[in-house]
Amino acid sequence: MSDFEREFVMVKPDGVKRRLVGNIISRLEQVGLRVVAMKMLQLTKGMAEKHYVIHKGKPFYDGLIKFISSGPVVAMIIEGKDAVKRVRKIAGATNPMDAEAGTIRGDLAMVIGRNVVHAADSPENAKIEYSIYFKESEIVSYEMINEDWVYE
Ligand code: RTP
Ligand code: MG
Repeated sequence: MSDFEREFVMVKPDGVKRRLVGNIISRLEQVGLRVVAMKMLQLTKGMAEKHYVIHKGKPFYDGLIKFISSGPVVAMIIEGKDAVKRVRKIAGATNPMDAEAGTIRGDLAMVIGRNVVHAADSPENAKIEYSIYFKESEIVSYEMINEDWVYE
């Protein structure tokens, strides 16, 4: 489909340690989005700095780098119609206190520094970010068995 996009999503160390990986992926899958690449890893400080380069210099940057590299994460590429906008809607506001009930952060988190999931904020940034974690050859392509019932 022409308006199909790829979004980069990461379950942060708090989400992994709280065993929310399945819950978070289910929320994305159940609307009709699909996982097209996924891996679990622990970020080095260098990878974390590359990932969060857009926040360099901000007051929360050092804490963010330390936290995101503090334990395992699950990195994935999510594909579907307007995937960036849709995933960010499902993730909810950055601060869980402002996130609507029904969103990942609204249902599963309490504070901004432990908001369980990362989602890139534009298709361009999604590509820059997922390229840190995945080679093109690691991204799969498949039809969902219910494709015709999810999309017109
Ligand atoms: P993300 O990048 O993680 O998907 O979150 P986002 O777009 O909703 O928020 P962003 O502004 O990109 O911030 C990235 C992450 O930095 C932490 N943060 N802490 N203490 C603070 O004021 C503060 N502001 C941001 C959050 O963990 C946020 O997800
Ligand atoms: Mg962001």
